[in-house]
Amino acid sequence: MTKIAIVYHSGYGHTAVIADAVAAGAKAAGAQVHLARLESASQDFTPALEAVSGADAVIFGAPTYMGDVSAPLRAFFEASSKIWMGQGWKDKLAAGFTNGLTFGGNKDHTLTSMWVLAMQHGMLWTGPGVPLGNMNGNTSAAPEAANRIGSALGVIAQSDNAAPDVTPPAGDREFARLLGERVAKLAAKLAG
Ligand SMILES: Cc1cc2nc3c(=O)[nH]c(=O)nc-3n(C[C@H](O)[C@H](O)[C@H](O)COP(=O)(O)O)c2cc1C
Repeated sequence: MTKIAIVYHSGYGHTAVIADAVAAGAKAAGAQVHLARLESASQDFTPALEAVSGADAVIFGAPTYMGDVSAPLRAFFEASSKIWMGQGWKDKLAAGFTNGLTFGGNKDHTLTSMWVLAMQHGMLWTGPGVPLGNMNGNTSAAPEAANRIGSALGVIAQSDNAAPDVTPPAGDREFARLLGERVAKLAAKLAG
């Protein structure tokens, strides 16, 4: 069974909804999932680092704060530098998701930060491989459309300031589920 580590931060619970949907998709596709939720930039990252080291694939997740990954995930990235020196995560599969209040919100930049980190480690990045929402017969911004915002690099979700059980909407949760499913299937292929 392939192992997937989902390393993410969620300050107010909205990104955690996306993380749970990614995990559900990966589990349904046969992977063993380790959800590592980061709480602060000054925490001990050892358990989360070890979770990635023991996994076939990693999926990074963070809300977009000030146009980039939130501070706990950035601190986790820096904490991975010793592993980077030995290229200990080389050839693992990697993917990412983010979430923000606005539709644009510079969320592509957040995914780019995750992608660069993965490339520094010599990992193999995959996007969700989900057609744009409006190619699925939906209006692209319809809340029930997977990939309603239109992202190829990773999952982008949008949450209003309502409670996390209301937002992000169903389309974003489905988009996240599809990312988890894709990473699990690709990880199994790579494992041979
Ligand atoms: C400090 C801070 C900065 C933020 N910056 C952005 C931003 O650049 N773009 C955006 O779309 N949303 C931004 N937001 C909104 C959050 O991304 C949004 O509320 C998200 O749902 C929070 O996710 P969480 O509940 O997992 O923390 C910001 C929120 C905070 C607290």
